Amino acid sequence: MLQTNFVNHTFENPLMNASGIHCMTVEEMKELANSKAGAYVTKSTTLKERAGNPSPRYVDVPLGSINSMGLPNLGIDYYLDYVSEAQTKTETPIFFSIAGMSVAENIEMLEKIQASDFHGVTELNLSCPNVPGKPQVAYDFDLTEETLEKIFAFFTKPLGIKLPPYFDLAHFDQMAAILNKYPLTYVNTINSVGNGLYIDVDKEQVVIKPKDGFGGLGGEYIKPTALANVRGFYTRLNPSIKIIGTGGIRNGQDAFEHLLCGATMLQIGTELHKEGPAIFERIASELEDIMEVKGYKSIDEFRGKLRSITD
Ligand code: SIN
Repeated sequence: MLQTNFVNHTFENPLMNASGIHCMTVEEMKELANSKAGAYVTKSTTLKERAGNPSPRYVDVPLGSINSMGLPNLGIDYYLDYVSEAQTKTETPIFFSIAGMSVAENIEMLEKIQASDFHGVTELNLSCPNVPGKPQVAYDFDLTEETLEKIFAFFTKPLGIKLPPYFDLAHFDQMAAILNKYPLTYVNTINSVGNGLYIDVDKEQVVIKPKDGFGGLGGEYIKPTALANVRGFYTRLNPSIKIIGTGGIRNGQDAFEHLLCGATMLQIGTELHKEGPAIFERIASELEDIMEVKGYKSIDEFRGKLRSITD
């Protein structure tokens, strides 16, 4: 019932982790591989290992989460070794996330991936809001285009990009016009809503240490923004560029809403952090229940079919 076709592969269901959650170490990735997730993605990596920002740097709050992790990761070789080995044990493509600190670093990592025997999907993260002094690439349209131009001059494996939220329809138009020039496999929308501020009112203090408490928001706070971005890009991108919907998925209804807006795969961050990998079985079963009540036998019957009010 939940089977999903994506990158020439049939996934058992569309559910995945969002990069950064439960995918830093081999142990965590193996837990995802053994969970009911349809697929999984590695932590966004840089060329060299990074310690990231000082703690506390990720805090669960009542309506979601706030984080400023700062891209802690174990370096590209760690993740590339893992996925190259793991892909021999499963037919399911693994997603490999990268987030270089510069265009040159992204190119160097993609050259490494191109030369490797990894045959899964690469996700280029252009939307990390948490590295002090490094604005998000995807808020700079010219730099995004320059990056994609350089990448597609040599990279031939499946590639998706992870975007931050946009808040103005003119920005959806501008970004979609750029993305439509390239043979992207998918667009993953959205990363956290950058630079929110959560306050502990008893202490009269911020709750995370980096950047004076400013951090990316996830969870319930961001679902309407995520749905708008899924819809905004689904209605503007070439149909060959699929959408991964990320943001605020806590139950089967949230998953259904993302699919109705046009998402093909779905990523879960904040709620996976709160609940652990058992969440995939729960959400898959809740989604199936909703589909059964509505009489849908497959996701394709309703994907993207959100109605406008026309009368
Ligand atoms: C981080 O490591 O700071 C989170 C990654 C991201 O938001 O892209």
